[in-house]
Amino acid sequence: MNNIQEKLIEDGKSVFAPTYNQLPIVLDGGKGVHVFDVEGNDYLDFSAGIAVNLLGYGDEGFSNALKRVIDNGIFHCSNIYWNKYSIEVANKLTNLSKMDQVFFCNSGTEANEAALKVARKYGKSKDINCTSVISMDHSFHGRTFGSLSTTGQAKYQESFFPLLEGVSYATYNDIKSVEALISSTTCAIIVEPIQGEGGIIPADKEFLQGLRELADKNDLILIFDEVQCGMGRTSEVFAFQSYGVTPDVVTLAKALGGGLPCGAMITKGKADNILIAGDHGSTFGGNLLAMAAASYVLDQISDKKFLNHVNLMSKYLVKKLYELKDKYPKQIVDIRGLGLMIGMQMTNPPQDIIKNCFDNKLLLLKAGTDVIRFVPPLVICESDIDEAISILDKAIEEVASK
Ligand SMILES: Cc1ncc(COP(=O)(O)O)c(C=O)c1O
Repeated sequence: MNNIQEKLIEDGKSVFAPTYNQLPIVLDGGKGVHVFDVEGNDYLDFSAGIAVNLLGYGDEGFSNALKRVIDNGIFHCSNIYWNKYSIEVANKLTNLSKMDQVFFCNSGTEANEAALKVARKYGKSKDINCTSVISMDHSFHGRTFGSLSTTGQAKYQESFFPLLEGVSYATYNDIKSVEALISSTTCAIIVEPIQGEGGIIPADKEFLQGLRELADKNDLILIFDEVQCGMGRTSEVFAFQSYGVTPDVVTLAKALGGGLPCGAMITKGKADNILIAGDHGSTFGGNLLAMAAASYVLDQISDKKFLNHVNLMSKYLVKKLYELKDKYPKQIVDIRGLGLMIGMQMTNPPQDIIKNCFDNKLLLLKAGTDVIRFVPPLVICESDIDEAISILDKAIEEVASK
């Protein structure tokens, strides 16, 4: 074997726990919305590291923000001390969300674990048995035990029972099914404003409004998991702003660090001051380098021009996808989503189409069982969309003619 890439992958396979089905490329560079493998192959990236790399690749301002931390020689100082970057980011997050308090961690699953702890402690302060949580069918909240327990998809849970007790699953977008599950032991409702892994399913506005009303009426903590749909993706900084419904807790990760590991939980009102010293923590949460990244990201996405661009690109992408739907009515069932979190539901599982696109240097993702997911960097432009659509068009045609 003399191909560098194949050799690296062979090495990786011999030492990695086999938890991923990686595609056969080793990435190590990028510019704009393109990524490059170690052999210099160039891919148009409509996956953005699964909704992470919102600024694309090679953003000079982002690199400079990181360099400033690197040059000071300290990346980590532990939460025994303060660091100015995390204070800066907490201020930006609370100002932008109009919420109150921030807890920093490193990933989406950790942000949800923190939210579940807030919910339980809040519930228990009222009644020792008030510990159960309502989640949704087809939801995805992460892979640690609390988050996994609230993930409403058996395939992720099956091998790991027993999970957290007291989690029940309502039907997404069906407020009556949520109401039917509320009891005296319920402390919280957790929901993604747009279900991501479950198949890019946006909540109806009335559903989120209904959840807010139920949470208020029954004194529950309403948690919005914006790990995938937050941070400018819907063309608002927070997805909940696209719906005009504010939760008690919002969880963030993925795009927050623009590519650096970073998560956060933001609380408001009754969810404030629930976790106190000793209740929760994270060695790396609020890490200087991750915070410098998040601070830069928040500056970019809070710019109206940036958000307007997301909105315009969303409209253009959706228009182009509808043209494909008209061309391939037998293959394409539905197009849905918000901003630049768009799903195209197919008649058949779309692996072959995604593989064909990959062979033609376009990176796309699947969601659910039959949805092609578009979560590109938010800095894409019309010509990137045209290029992606042309590759996808050929892929659908080729797979259909097989
Ligand atoms: C909505 C949602 N919540 C939580 C997670 C878990 O995030 P992480 O992989 O950073 O733990 C994900 C990851 O895909 C997600 O999409």
